[in-house]
Formats: sequence, C-alpha cells, structure tokens
Amino acid sequence: MNSAQVTRVLFVCLGNICRSPLAEGLFRHKVEARGLTEQFHVDSAGTGDWHIGHPPDERMLETALGRGVQLTSRARQVRKSDFVEFDVIYAMDRANQRDLLELGAPDEKVKLFLKSDPKAEVIEVPDPYFGGLEGFHEVFDLVDRACEAILEEYEQS
Ligand code: 4NP
Repeated sequence: MNSAQVTRVLFVCLGNICRSPLAEGLFRHKVEARGLTEQFHVDSAGTGDWHIGHPPDERMLETALGRGVQLTSRARQVRKSDFVEFDVIYAMDRANQRDLLELGAPDEKVKLFLKSDPKAEVIEVPDPYFGGLEGFHEVFDLVDRACEAILEEYEQS
C-alpha cells in the first residue's frame, strides 16, 4: 500500500454547497474509518462564486447527518493554486470538468468523479439544488459508492 505519501484530493461542483461538500465529508468519513487520516488531504470547491463562505445546503446537511455523516465545510471557489496543490481533482459533472479545464487545470489531474465507480450507471452526479429531497438521497448514494470505489482502489494499489 501507498504508505507515507499524502494524496491531496479536491472535489469540485458548481456551487460547493451540495455535491462536492458531501463528497468531501463522505470521503473524509471513510478515510477516518479506515485509519487512513494521515494519508489524505481532502477539500472541496465550486466553480461558481455565489455561495462563498456558506455552509452546505440545509437539505444536504440533513441528508448526510441522517446517514451518519456530518458536513462541516464552508463554500469556496476554485483557485488556480488548486491545480498545483492537489494531486487529483474530481469533477461532479461534465460542465464542472469543462470549466476546470478552461480555468487551466491540468488534464491529467481532472477526473469525472463517477468514472471511479465501475458499477455506476450514470457518469454525472445530478445537481440536486433545484429539485426535491429525493434528489439529495440519490446524490448521497452515488457519492457514497464512488468514494468507496476510490478507496478500495487505493487500498489495493
Ligand atoms: P452544487 O449545487 O453545485 O452541487 O453545490 C448547486 C448549488 C447552487 C447553485 C447551483 C448548483 N446555484 O445556482 O446557486
């Protein structure tokens, strides 16, 4: 296993109040549960600037808490230094991926998040912001499985 080296992981969506804060919180939760805290630095950001400084959307907070995960992040916007600081940048959907590349993120660092899950039936995490509560649970399930798949792959490497 990849022992001493820290892997720096950034999750990116549009607003940084729904999908990417969940991915950050869930990934960190799983990292801690596996005793891998020293191996990862985890963060999230949005390509948009509307919600800078805000906590995650109340519906995302409640959905995550109901399923055992506390989200503590505050929204921030992607910055160019992220493209140097992070080893891998997971985009929640294709628009996020395109925006990151347009901002200058290196192609080899930007991955479509759900491509990490070989069992995923969709390749984008749908934006739940304008929909109902069921959308937040759907996002939770997709993000949960992809985080699990990334860590399984990591542990096998
Ligand atoms: P997120 O969801 O990208 O998963 O954080 C959104 C949150 C806010 C907006 C759009 C998407 N918005 O338009 O304000």
